[in-house]
Amino acid sequence: MSRMSAADRPEPPAPAGAARDAVPAAAGALEGAVWSLIGNTPLARLRRIEPHPGVEIHAKLESRNPGGSVKDRAAASMIREGLRTGGLVPGKTLLDASSGNTGIALAMLGAALGYTVKLCVPSNVSSERKRLLDIYGADVVWTNPLEGSDGAIREARRLFALEPQRYFYSDQYSNEANWRAHYDTTAVEILAQTSRRITHFVAGLGTSGTFVGTGRRLKLEKPTVQLISVQPDGPFHGLEGLKHMDSAIVPPIYDPSLADEAVAVETDEAWAMVRRLAREEGVFVGVSGAAALVATLRAAATVERGVFVTIIPDGGERYLSERQMERA
Ligand SMILES: Cc1ncc(COP(=O)(O)O)c(C=O)c1O
Repeated sequence: MSRMSAADRPEPPAPAGAARDAVPAAAGALEGAVWSLIGNTPLARLRRIEPHPGVEIHAKLESRNPGGSVKDRAAASMIREGLRTGGLVPGKTLLDASSGNTGIALAMLGAALGYTVKLCVPSNVSSERKRLLDIYGADVVWTNPLEGSDGAIREARRLFALEPQRYFYSDQYSNEANWRAHYDTTAVEILAQTSRRITHFVAGLGTSGTFVGTGRRLKLEKPTVQLISVQPDGPFHGLEGLKHMDSAIVPPIYDPSLADEAVAVETDEAWAMVRRLAREEGVFVGVSGAAALVATLRAAATVERGVFVTIIPDGGERYLSERQMERA
């Protein structure tokens, strides 16, 4: 584990203010305010990129969550479960490893509840993410970019092992409440929004919570739905938020047997799709969502009829400072 130099590091968060010193809110305080805005995201039909008549492409725009990403669902679910089971109690610090979006969601919700949040994050995440983590007051340990999300996981495990009594380690990679969030909400929304017409579901794999939770529920409710998982094509990639499972620490919640098809996408193809979607559909997506759409179009080209639904985990604004945006 190595850390960034002091010059690269954002300003440390301000010391916990009055809200953090106060007794954190109990589970009942989850209702209302920011919590009630999570989920029920729109499903947009992307007509102009549909390959041929008979195939519909729909994108679930998770950037519409209050924290700006799909990870609000998992973070809220893990916090609720922690409060319900008594793992998260006043005085504990919320701890997790994140490539950014879960960290932002935990920092936002921790702030709303009055808990201190400590996050282990690879130092090469986009500067927009770094700023957001700082704005929500998270305490961040920057980990070696060459070790990717695995380096962040190892550091969170190390911190937890040193002082287990100090932390509520939500451990998104192992936490059943992560995939359950999607089983209980994302899948149900998709079935309703497509009037159960969905035939194919496509999602990228990070912790795999989105794919596993949504996929399990869709298969239960409509067994003919085809599940397509999306990964980067190799260990060194630029698809922030996604994992190359063959070379990474495999999340305990991941169930590879769920996928009817597993698609690998190159980083450059995904960036090209970011630009194409912005220019042809007027929809600005993050690069992992663009990768999922590359996989969607590939699969859609092979069928005569189908209703494809893809998860777009976040919006392109979160990556505006990335070098690849300049080529647009
Ligand atoms: C941008 C982005 N895309 C995709 C994912 C993958 O979602 P999941 O962890 O549910 O597999 C994440 C997860 O953090 C993400 O931040």
